[in-house]
Amino acid sequence: MASNRGQFNSRVGFILAAAGSAVGLGNIWKFPFEVGDGGGAAFVLIYLIFCFVLCFPVMVAEIAIGRRTNKNPVGAFVSLGFPNWSIIGKLGLVAGVVILSFYNVVAGWAFGYFFEMLQGNFAIGSEFGTFIADWLKVGIYGLIFMAATAFIVSGGVQDGIEKAAKILMPSLLAIILFLVVYALTLPNAMAGVEFYLVPDFSKVNLQVIYNALGQAFFSLSLGMGALITYGSYVSKRENIISSAAIITLTDVGIAFIAGLMMFPFVFSQNLEPNGGPGLIFVTLPGVFQTLGPLLGVVIGSLFFLLLSFAALTSTVSLLEVPVSYLVDERNMPRKKAVWLTAGGIFLVGIPSLLSNGSSEFWTAFTHLPGREDPVSFMTLIEFVASDSFLPLGGFLISVFTAYVWRTASLDEEVAIGNDGFLGSPLQKFLNFGIQFLAPVILGIIFVLTVLDRFWGYNPF
Ligand code: PHE
Repeated sequence: MASNRGQFNSRVGFILAAAGSAVGLGNIWKFPFEVGDGGGAAFVLIYLIFCFVLCFPVMVAEIAIGRRTNKNPVGAFVSLGFPNWSIIGKLGLVAGVVILSFYNVVAGWAFGYFFEMLQGNFAIGSEFGTFIADWLKVGIYGLIFMAATAFIVSGGVQDGIEKAAKILMPSLLAIILFLVVYALTLPNAMAGVEFYLVPDFSKVNLQVIYNALGQAFFSLSLGMGALITYGSYVSKRENIISSAAIITLTDVGIAFIAGLMMFPFVFSQNLEPNGGPGLIFVTLPGVFQTLGPLLGVVIGSLFFLLLSFAALTSTVSLLEVPVSYLVDERNMPRKKAVWLTAGGIFLVGIPSLLSNGSSEFWTAFTHLPGREDPVSFMTLIEFVASDSFLPLGGFLISVFTAYVWRTASLDEEVAIGNDGFLGSPLQKFLNFGIQFLAPVILGIIFVLTVLDRFWGYNPF
């Protein structure tokens, strides 16, 4: 049945590909600045709770739905016998396309920085604003990045996605670990560690909670069917629970390590931790410079190359969602589906490309109630796709799984490849999570986030 769609070759291959999807700009670029904006350790703690308690059951449900049906996120719901619920998959497709359109822009920045570092241009940190406003340059990097993504996805599940992840993921880990060790030896490093690890709960407000939840979903690639898609390529022999646990731990672990690298760097340079989206792009070049001209060039370019790799395994999973849809539901040959979607999504990303200073229209795109400054087009679609659609998708997936498909069916699928599962405490936790915790908490936070983002309304 699944033979012409492709399948992961091994358990390790699946886990690396899914962890590759999870680990990306979300961990290394977004997580540290969210922590910085959210006041440090208190944010980290809330984020961890969300990942393990709320997101984990949703992740298991996504993988199980995919594996049960061997289908893309739209076809999966039809295949289970609930065609009306394929709206979840359609929302996911839209979210995936939109997220990839702006994600690719940031990935282009990372890739561009690789070349700047190669040339020893450490001053780029202070010129970040000018760099991202240069639409032609950044656009070319973005185009190359999208082409690389398409190239991997067109290779298929085993020869493309799985192979790339097996090379890229371990190299990423090695370089980050090296940088953490270096960061911890810098003067004032401990002030950074303290900011990062000692919680100050007076900094927690609703905003911090919304951001932590959005970040957890984004970082784990949940709520849009990326893991339904990857789950559809997993064999019945695999243990879904332990795979999901490893994927979650890897993702959280790498985000955690990225923070452990960032804050000592930031504090050692006497910079403010709340540097926003520019944080790594502004801070790190100066740090690399302190390594001396030779080592600085080597480590600096290696870092941004690997950041690009981390982003690449994520863009691959984002592109695979619409591609699997076109292949399954429209019988399109994979290669054609890949290049068509990649090209289309690049075009959709052009306004985001222009949103960072090169065009006044897209940069100051609109005013949202409750915010003094205008928001850019790119920020607006981030609010819509990643802050709103992903938690909404998670909410709908948990409601669907618990009350439509039924928890018993979920358990039955999860038990395949996992002998002791039925009757175990884990089964109880999973069922409780998917029936109560996820729907209730995700439902409430989704509504509050939308009120906050689009109406500036904050009830407390
Ligand atoms: N998880 C990826 C990251 O952290 C982004 C992503 C979101 C990928 C949703 C796929 C689906 O960078």
